[in-house]
Amino acid sequence: MQHFLSITDFSADELWQFLRQAKELKDELKNTGHNQPILKGKTLGMVFQKPSLRTRVSFEVGMLHLGGHALYLSPNEIGLGGRESVPDVARVLSGYVDGIMARVFAHQHILQLAEYSRVPVINGLSDYDHPCQALADIFTLWEHFGRVEGLKMAYVGDGNNVATSLITLMAKLGGHFSIATPPGYELPAEVVTAARHLAEETNAMISVTHNPAEAVTGADVIYTDVWTSMGQEKESQERLKVFPPYQINSQLLAQAGSQAVVMHCLPAHRGEEITDEVADGTQSLLFPQAENRLHAQKGILALLLG
Ligand code: CP
Ligand code: NVA
Repeated sequence: MQHFLSITDFSADELWQFLRQAKELKDELKNTGHNQPILKGKTLGMVFQKPSLRTRVSFEVGMLHLGGHALYLSPNEIGLGGRESVPDVARVLSGYVDGIMARVFAHQHILQLAEYSRVPVINGLSDYDHPCQALADIFTLWEHFGRVEGLKMAYVGDGNNVATSLITLMAKLGGHFSIATPPGYELPAEVVTAARHLAEETNAMISVTHNPAEAVTGADVIYTDVWTSMGQEKESQERLKVFPPYQINSQLLAQAGSQAVVMHCLPAHRGEEITDEVADGTQSLLFPQAENRLHAQKGILALLLG
């Protein structure tokens, strides 16, 4: 049995297997209007401690497309770690469903679900990382540029869960990654060290700065995310004071050039980390990127539950 917990758990070959499977399923859907029911009779339990649009809908629709079924389990229903211990939730759910997808606050809870589950567990975002997002994003870049190796992604903003998965995936697949964050909001040092280690094998370049203009110079992709992630709401006023120089606006985009594309995992706080002009502009990949959550995750579901 295999879980999908973090990008670090997979080799580049395995990651490409997910990407190729996703492409096959996307092509099949676009060409024929439907997918073969390869997950007929299979059920996915979806445990959420936080809100979601993309993750919830794309997993649910993905299961439906593949002939299976998904159950949405809201924060109040399960009370993960409160009403019932995480190991007990994992043990009980494993008796009903063929896979568990969970969105949690503490990454430790994802690890615990996986430890006690008898079925595959998929990380649908934790405070540490967001591997499904990164896989969909790299799928989108592969579609757009026809390659991943040698592309330069500049991430501007908070060194958060999304950035953690992106730096790791780019390093694994030979993409360059440069991140500009305000001082105090860097990626965890061990994440950067691990990515640099991976990058030695793939010739990827990893750079870390506090200067957005420096990060985006020569970039093929500029990526941003919200300044305050779910669970950090108490820090939001403080963050609003620090982050404005890290906004993706036309001026910063011009620094990268007209070939560069812009990405954001969404939901966006328009007018904060990204302007309307950029989000809705010709260089934006925001909505193809959101759609690709569906296709990328079908690749994961097919390989884990199929
Ligand atoms: N990008 C993303 O995970 O979106 P949701 O929070 O809406 O699932
Ligand atoms: N970094 C954001 C991503 C949301 C999809 C958060 O954790 O809230």
